Amino acid sequence: MNTFEQFEQNESGIRSYCRSFPVIFDQARGAELFTRDGKSYIDFLAGAGTLNYGHNHPVMKQALIEYLQHDGLTHGLDMYSAAKERFLETFDRVILNPRGFGDYVVQFSGPTGTNAVEAALKLARKVTGRSNVISFTNGFHGCSIGALAATGNQHHRGAAGVPLTDVSRMPYANYFGDKVNTISMMDKLLSDPSSGVDKPAAVIVEVVQGEGGLNAASAEWVRKLEKLCRKHDMLMIVDDIQAGCGRTGTFFSFEEMGVKPDIITLSKSLSGYGLPFAVVVMRRELDQWEPGEHNGTFRGNNHAFVTAAAALEHFWTTDEFANSVKAKGTIIRDRMQKIVRRHGPDSLYVKGRGMMVGINCPDGETAAAICAEAFENGLVIETSGNHSQVVKCLCPLIISEEQIDKAMTILDAAFAKVMSADVKNQAS
Ligand SMILES: Cc1ncc(COP(=O)(O)O)c(C=O)c1O
Repeated sequence: MNTFEQFEQNESGIRSYCRSFPVIFDQARGAELFTRDGKSYIDFLAGAGTLNYGHNHPVMKQALIEYLQHDGLTHGLDMYSAAKERFLETFDRVILNPRGFGDYVVQFSGPTGTNAVEAALKLARKVTGRSNVISFTNGFHGCSIGALAATGNQHHRGAAGVPLTDVSRMPYANYFGDKVNTISMMDKLLSDPSSGVDKPAAVIVEVVQGEGGLNAASAEWVRKLEKLCRKHDMLMIVDDIQAGCGRTGTFFSFEEMGVKPDIITLSKSLSGYGLPFAVVVMRRELDQWEPGEHNGTFRGNNHAFVTAAAALEHFWTTDEFANSVKAKGTIIRDRMQKIVRRHGPDSLYVKGRGMMVGINCPDGETAAAICAEAFENGLVIETSGNHSQVVKCLCPLIISEEQIDKAMTILDAAFAKVMSADVKNQAS
């Protein structure tokens, strides 16, 4: 039996995931979590997209152990270190250069996604001398004030306590359905000097909206957005904090779309080991920072540099891993389509791209009940979306097909139970 007295007595009421998963976890390996009393769960939450390579991957673990035994620098502010040099060299050679970003530079922000977003927004404003930024409906960029202003979610915005300013919200791809061209709409607003939309410094966009409910923009929409940025002299910031690091089947979520953002934010799975780490990748000409202007004590998480370099070297020097993500993404999507056909062809549908996929339920209550039922049977899975109505499969990318099969069987049974109860309730 778990008791949660310690947490209830000493931890703030802000805690949230533990309310959906009321057990005490103690160990984790690959795509599995283990409680203190030995029960195992398949992890379809994966640190909200932070554990793309699973828990305690042996390659990164070994690199970290060796580094610790060598008394390698742990904390280094932004001083030069051997670990940072190795990361920069590896990131440039394995990721940036082969993808045409060899002339971009890397800023180490504070180690959270929201801090990378803060830095990206500040930089865009500094470089252009404009304050307004365009962000999108259902976008999520973090909970510190600047990033929160660009975030749509009312639950998070409501906690700001100050006005959230200098952002113009525009409709994301397909926000009004596939008949409404939201790029033309934006073009018209930006071209009209009396529209009331101040000329923006930048547009910040997720190519697949993670927290917003797995809304995936088409390549065409993203290409048009880039053109719009060029036409109206706005910087294009892609927030790839959740969709990046391989989640959609390529390292960057926009990679096969033929676009070249001016600024890219990365965090979550970048360290490859769940260690805090975030960067802003920018066109060299945009690097107009004065030394230390966007400061932060924890900009030099050397342990994260070590595991990140090991992860890039291990997973990204050939196409094998990316191809496996694409293949597993198809398996998961096919299984979800079957669930939809079986339990609610009129009320359920599959959303997302790559291994960032989920099932849209009629409402948040149904989705929550499905996740709770799945948890009872050994699957950690959460919801996202504007009404928390999407059951979101964010499993580690290294998950085995056997584990996918097991998880999908649990999910199928959870949908069967909850959807049949829903039907009964509607009938009575
Ligand atoms: C796209 C995106 N940007 C930014 C963030 C904020 O990252 P963090 O929670 O590390 O501050 C998140 C977190 O979920 C995210 O999904």
